[in-house]
Amino acid sequence: MRTLVTGGAGYVGSHMVKALVDVGHQVVVVDDMSAGHRDAVPPGVPFVLADVGSTKDMAAVLRDHHVEAVFHFAAKIRVEESVAQPRRYWKGNLVATLALLDAVLDSGTVQAFVQSSTAAVYGTPDEVPIDEDHPKRPESPYGETKLAVERALEAYGRAHGLRWAALRYFNAAGADHEAGLGERHEPETHLIPLVLDAASGKRESISIYGTSWPTPDGTCVRDYIHVSDLCEAHLAALDHLLRGGESGAFNLGTGRGHSVREIVDVARSITGRRITTVDALPRAGDPPSLVAKVDRAAKVLGWSARRAELSRIVGDAWAWKLRSEQV
Ligand code: UFG
Repeated sequence: MRTLVTGGAGYVGSHMVKALVDVGHQVVVVDDMSAGHRDAVPPGVPFVLADVGSTKDMAAVLRDHHVEAVFHFAAKIRVEESVAQPRRYWKGNLVATLALLDAVLDSGTVQAFVQSSTAAVYGTPDEVPIDEDHPKRPESPYGETKLAVERALEAYGRAHGLRWAALRYFNAAGADHEAGLGERHEPETHLIPLVLDAASGKRESISIYGTSWPTPDGTCVRDYIHVSDLCEAHLAALDHLLRGGESGAFNLGTGRGHSVREIVDVARSITGRRITTVDALPRAGDPPSLVAKVDRAAKVLGWSARRAELSRIVGDAWAWKLRSEQV
C-alpha cells in the first residue's frame, strides 16, 4: 500500500515510517522540520519538506505518490506551550489538519486516515481507567485542537465517506534503539527522557511535580506506552479501516498506571546511576492520574501492548540514549 506519514521525521512518526517499511508498505514522508530530524527518515524513503497546512502542496504529494492511506503525526505537542501560545496550536493542529483533509477528500485515492490524538481530550477524568466514551473536557488548547480534529473527522466521515481512526495516545515512551530511533525533543519536557538525563549527568536532578496527590505514593500516575506498540496499533487501525471496519476513536495505552517515583526507581535500577530527585510543586494542569481503558482497541482492532513492562520501556529509552549520546 502507498502511505503518507506526516511528521515522519519526528519521534512517533519516524518509528511509524520504519514499521510501515518493515511490513512492506511504500511510504512518503512530509515534514516541515520544525521539530523533526532528517536522519530519522531512512535513506530511500521519499522525503518532502512541506507544511501540511498547504492544501496545494499536500494535493501534489497525494497525487504524485498515489497515496492510499495517511498517518497524520505532524502537530505541536506541548500542553504548556499551547496555553501560552494558543495561535500556534489552533493554526498548526486544527487549521493545518483541515487543509490536509481538503487534499485527502479531493484526492480520490485515499482510503483511510489515521490521526494522532491524545488522552488530553478527556481533561481531568472523573475516574480511571478512562474509556473512550468518557466526557471530553480538554483543559488546554492542545487538547481542544486535537478534539476539534476528531469532531471534523466524524463529520467528514458521515458526510463524505472518509474512513478514519483517531488514536488517543496516553504517554508515548521508549524507543526502537536497534533501528537508531528514539525520543529527541527540543526542549525536552517528558518525564522519562528527563529522568535519564539526570542519570547521565546531563541534568543535575529531576523535579517531581507534586508529592501529595491522591495516588498510592503521592506522585502523578500515567499510562506509559512503548512507541513500537503505538506503531503496531496504527497498523491494526489501518487493517481495520481497509476491511470496512467502523471509523472511530481508540485509546492507546497499556491499561497500567505508574507513578513518577516508580519511573525514577526503575530508571535507577536499569542505569545503575545515581538519580537525584527534588520534590517540587505540582505543574499547572496536570491531572493526578491518567490510565487508559484499552478494551475497545483490543476488541475492535485486535491490538494490545506487547511491551508494557516499565523495565522494557525505560530500558529501551536508555539504550537509545547510550547509543545516540554515548553517555
Ligand atoms: N513530571 C515530573 N517532572 C518532570 C516532568 C514530568 O514530575 O520534570 C511528571 C508530570 O507531572 C506527569 C508525568 O511526570 O505527572 C508525565 O509528564 P510528561 O510531561 O512526560 O507527560 P504528560 O502526562 O504531562 O503529557 C502526556 C503527553 C502530552 C499529552 C498528555 C495528555 O506528553 O502530549 O500526556 O494528558 F497531551
